[in-house]
Formats: sequence, C-alpha cells, structure tokens
Amino acid sequence: MKFLVHTYGCQMNVRDSEAVEALLVAAGHEKVSTEAEAELVIVNSCTVRDMAERKAVGKCGNLIAAKEGRGKTIAPHVKVVGLMGCAVKRMGADVFKSLPNLDFAVGPRRFGAIPRLVERCLAGEKRILELPDDDEVPTGMDAHGVTSFQCFVTVLLGCDNRCSYCIVPDVRGHEYSRPAREVVAEVRALAARGVKEVCLLGQSVLRYGVRNPAWLPDDPPSPGGYVEAFPRLLEALNAVDGLARIRFTSAHPKGCTDELVRAYAEFPKVCRHLHLPVQSGSDRVLKEMGRRYTRAEYLAAVAKLRAFDPEFAVTTDVIVGYPGETEADFEATRSLMEEAGFDNAFVFKYSPRPGTRSAALPDDVPTEEKERRDQVLLADQQVRGQARNDRLVGTVREVLVEGPSLRNAARWSGRDSGNRIVVFEPKGPLVAGTPVKVRITEAHPQILIGLPVFPN
Ligand code: 5AD
Ligand code: SF4
Repeated sequence: MKFLVHTYGCQMNVRDSEAVEALLVAAGHEKVSTEAEAELVIVNSCTVRDMAERKAVGKCGNLIAAKEGRGKTIAPHVKVVGLMGCAVKRMGADVFKSLPNLDFAVGPRRFGAIPRLVERCLAGEKRILELPDDDEVPTGMDAHGVTSFQCFVTVLLGCDNRCSYCIVPDVRGHEYSRPAREVVAEVRALAARGVKEVCLLGQSVLRYGVRNPAWLPDDPPSPGGYVEAFPRLLEALNAVDGLARIRFTSAHPKGCTDELVRAYAEFPKVCRHLHLPVQSGSDRVLKEMGRRYTRAEYLAAVAKLRAFDPEFAVTTDVIVGYPGETEADFEATRSLMEEAGFDNAFVFKYSPRPGTRSAALPDDVPTEEKERRDQVLLADQQVRGQARNDRLVGTVREVLVEGPSLRNAARWSGRDSGNRIVVFEPKGPLVAGTPVKVRITEAHPQILIGLPVFPN
C-alpha cells in the first residue's frame, strides 16, 4: 500500500513514526508524501495537552470521513486509517467512541505491531485495539528508513518522575534503558550510512541506566573511568567514526552531575546545549508539581554548565497558569528565566490531564490570564534572546549545514553546537551535513546571520 504517517507531538513521536515508516517499507509498502496518493494513513498522536490530542483525533476523523466518501475528499484513495501513539493509550477502548470507524489503534510501545495490523485490516478486520504494558520493550525500535544526516535514537523509554501535571508516565509507561551495546551498535550503523548527527532521546534522558542497568558486566570498561551510565554512553559514542555531533534531550537538573559536565568538556562531538525544562521559578509551585528541585538548585545546575563554557546554550519549557499560580509565583518564574539567561524557551498554558494529580485541583487561572502570562514570558524571551545572541556577533561558529533557508532559498541554514540557527550566504556548492565555519555578522532573537570563513 502507499502510506503516509502524520506526526503530532514531541521528538519521541517523530522517532516512533520514522521507525514505523521503516517497518512498513520493509514489509513491502511504499511511502508517499501526500494524502492525495495515500491508501494507508496513520496518525501518530500526542496527549500532553488537551489541544494536542484534539488535533490528532480530529485529523483521524477527517481521514475516516474521506475514506467513507464524506466531507472534503482530502484523501481520495485512503482505505485504511490507523491511530498510534500517546492519545491511544490515554483513551483506551474509548478511542472507538470518538472514532467508531477507525481501523486500528495502537499505543506507544506497541508500534512494532503495525505491519501485522495493516495485514489484518486488509483481511477485513476493523476496530483493532493494541495497548502496550507499562514495561513493554518495543520491537522495531532500531528500524531506520532513508535518513538525512541527522537522526533520532531512542535510549530511554517511559518516565517514572510522576510530575503532578504530566500524563506521560501513564501513556509511555515505566522507564527502561536500552542496553548501551544496542545503542552503540545502532549509532555505528547509522554513521556507516552517512549520519553525522544523532540526538539521543528519553523523557528524562539523564536517568539512563538508573532503573535498569544499561551497561552489562561483560561490556568493555570505560577508558576515561566514567561510572555514570549516561556520560559513559557519551564517551562510547564520541568514539564512533564518521559521527560529528551528539545531542540529547530532555534533561532534569538532578542529572547535571560533575561527570556529565566532564563529558561535555572532554568529548568534542557532544554539543554544548541542554534542554532543561524548568516549568516554574516559584519554589512553592515546584514543590506542588513534584519537580524534586528548588529554584536555587535549578540555577546551580545552569551555572555549572556555563562555568566551563559561558556560551553553553540552555533552553527550557515553562508552564503558566498551574492551579493556584499567583502573580508572585509568576513573577518568580519571570525572574528565574532572567537569572538563568535562557537561549530559548517554550511556554505552555496549563492544561489539566485526566488521571494526573493536578487534575484534581481547580484549574483556577483564567484563560485570558494564562494567555497574558504566556505573552509576557515570550516578550521577555525575545529581548533576552537578542541580548544573548548579540554577544556572539564577531565570533566564528562551526555550523553543520542543513539546507537552503526557509525564508530565502539563496541562503543556507544550519546549526551551531548550541543548536542556534545560523543563516549564511553559501560560497559555492554545499552538501547537507557538511561543517562550515561562519563568522557571525548579525544577531536576532532566534537566529544568527553570518559569512562563511575561508579556508574552512
Ligand atoms: N499542561 C501544560 N503543559 C504541559 N506540559 C506537560 N504537561 C503539561 C500540561 N498538563 C509541558 C511541559 C513539558 C512540555 C513537553 O509540555 O512544559 O516540558
Ligand atoms: Fe506528546 Fe508527551 Fe507523547 Fe511526546 S511523550 S507525544 S509530548 S504525550
């Protein structure tokens, strides 16, 4: 069948979709790029906020309507519609109340079953539901399709943090660290196929090897004497031939250990950027959220990263309008963001999720007030981003080229080690994945502009 996978949500979902595409291709199906051509469409759903779930379920509804010849004929050839991902696990059998004619629904850790489910649907079955157990280890996790020079690699599944507002542990199950030897073999194979940059994924990736051992007794010892599992993984991946960069996400301040900082300093392939969601700057709210750090501890983690490299990029996620968030709590978030000097920030309006601890609390910050707080933080971040980027004017950044800039195809765009977008005028032909040294001439809140330096 000609198939298409639509992805909502975070990098985990992007990765799972990529694996599903590779599994479907291996089963003889053909990936297409438009709904107009597709006979099989799979929607990979997110449920972290109510709006995210609605978008995915709505999309699926439209596709089913198209299949039945109702509504707009967005997908004239579609025969099978499937829903996968986090929303399926949250809704369980209720998914068929919202989408009665869905062909199959499959939860996050069971995506390896999809080729088989497609066969069953073609044989006439409908409304198939597959829900993974919380400890399930997915099959097909190492399947990769035709990739660009960048690739995601799952290293830690699930989450055991249980923050009060977050539905992720309910839908993505318990933490499970993949054996380091599997991860290293996967990255080696990718590098041999021309991948230059990997991004290691886990909801709380610095908890790698905490709940279950990632390194086994007969693995080779760490040459640098690393004892913590994640820095030791960085050490092993830094030695992979052909690989240029290693990124990872997301992190928790408790994982910002001395060994992690040592790994950043010692391994040139490890990019100097950390996405470190803070969620709030108010100690009272942090405690309610069950984040297990104080404002001071969070700021100490940031200071530690910037102490060895002042240009180290730190980005974050913040929630505004958590139940009971006062003006003073909000102002504490504002001042923390200023003190931390974030290079970028994503702000989310609190959305109660069924079954989470905070869903039992009144969602008492009015929508307009959440919107106002969101806007204030974004405006602050624009000013801060400009100031942080201004400091880089005149410096030379090593950029890994991604492709023509979206806004102006005559310019090329790539990222520096700190994940900052750098746009520049190419001098001669360029290939995606090539490193180019660029002298920064101009700074904006979200991008840097520069000229390539020769010889490179
Ligand atoms: N409401 C709003 N934002 C949320 N996030 C997680 N759960 C919720 C929720 N219930 C945000 C957090 C997290 C990001 C991926 O989504 O900031 O870091
Ligand atoms: Fe959405 Fe969270 Fe699932 Fe990612 S893990 S897709 S953010 S619910």
